[in-house]
Amino acid sequence: MSGADLPLVLVTHTLPLEWISSLQGRCLQVTGPVDAVRFDPSLEARLEGAAGILCLLTIPINEAILQRAPGLKVVSNMAVGVDNIDLRACTRRGIPVGNTPWVLTDGTADLAMALLLAAARRLPQASLDAREGRWTTWSPTGWLGADLHGALLGIVGLGKIGRAVAQRAKGFGLRLVYCDEQPAPPELEAALDLQRLTLDELLQVSDFVSLHVPLTPQTRGLIAEGALRKMKSTAILVNTSRGGVVDARALERALREGWIAAAALDVTEPEPLPPDHPLYRLPNCLILPHIGSATRETRQRMAELACENLLAGLEGRRLPHCVNPEVYA
Ligand code: DGY
Repeated sequence: MSGADLPLVLVTHTLPLEWISSLQGRCLQVTGPVDAVRFDPSLEARLEGAAGILCLLTIPINEAILQRAPGLKVVSNMAVGVDNIDLRACTRRGIPVGNTPWVLTDGTADLAMALLLAAARRLPQASLDAREGRWTTWSPTGWLGADLHGALLGIVGLGKIGRAVAQRAKGFGLRLVYCDEQPAPPELEAALDLQRLTLDELLQVSDFVSLHVPLTPQTRGLIAEGALRKMKSTAILVNTSRGGVVDARALERALREGWIAAAALDVTEPEPLPPDHPLYRLPNCLILPHIGSATRETRQRMAELACENLLAGLEGRRLPHCVNPEVYA
């Protein structure tokens, strides 16, 4: 195929060349800036001729975009979550959508544990106090946190990442309960000593609650005032899923008024959370800039998988990881 015959692909952000080397010679790439916060106008102008889009989770792929890309054959998201993509609109047009499961499971589960440990042992506060001169002696009652071992962790959503968190938590001596639409396989329940509860039951009994559900119309605002008021006043909430699963206003009140003890969030809504957001002012709220998958190895594997999906779609093959397989029916 000569360069002119290669399919045009819009890559919404500049990625390291070695991560996307498989695209070389197989498509013509037009690339957006590394720090693009929206679909770059220079790319929008090329939508009409585009056969593929490789995008990040920050870029909405909606009806307006799809309408302008009549020749689109594939949308490949460099993320496992696909809430940025109008799946119905893609499916209606027969466009397969790819995501990047598995490769970020361990990285994200590690970060959920890091957040849990940091919040339970109050690391941000202790570190700040040391840095700012408030560490005057070894204090028997200073910086007291909560034990992980023996405490009860409630896992909301026992998919790949929820399970990986359960495995890690077991190693820390936590007891485990979970809620999910589907019961886990009996062998897994037995191996990890997992007990399935309803969400309400889980919220009432858990010392720590970790969220691992995708953002869908059903899970949006799942953890709002009603849910937060059911939790123990000593409980810690960890969110590494999507910000929209938690009602930020209700969470802010819950943390300020002591309905729960602390929250540790890798995800917020909106992202980025503006610097003047009230959640930043709460000492019992730890906020990270959505870094669950941010290890060099994981991000490279995500990009490589996104390229595999993209190339399959361009070449008319089934995507290795397709979130709307009904397009093949
Ligand atoms: C994903 O892939 O959905 C993650 O949120 C990225 O860290």
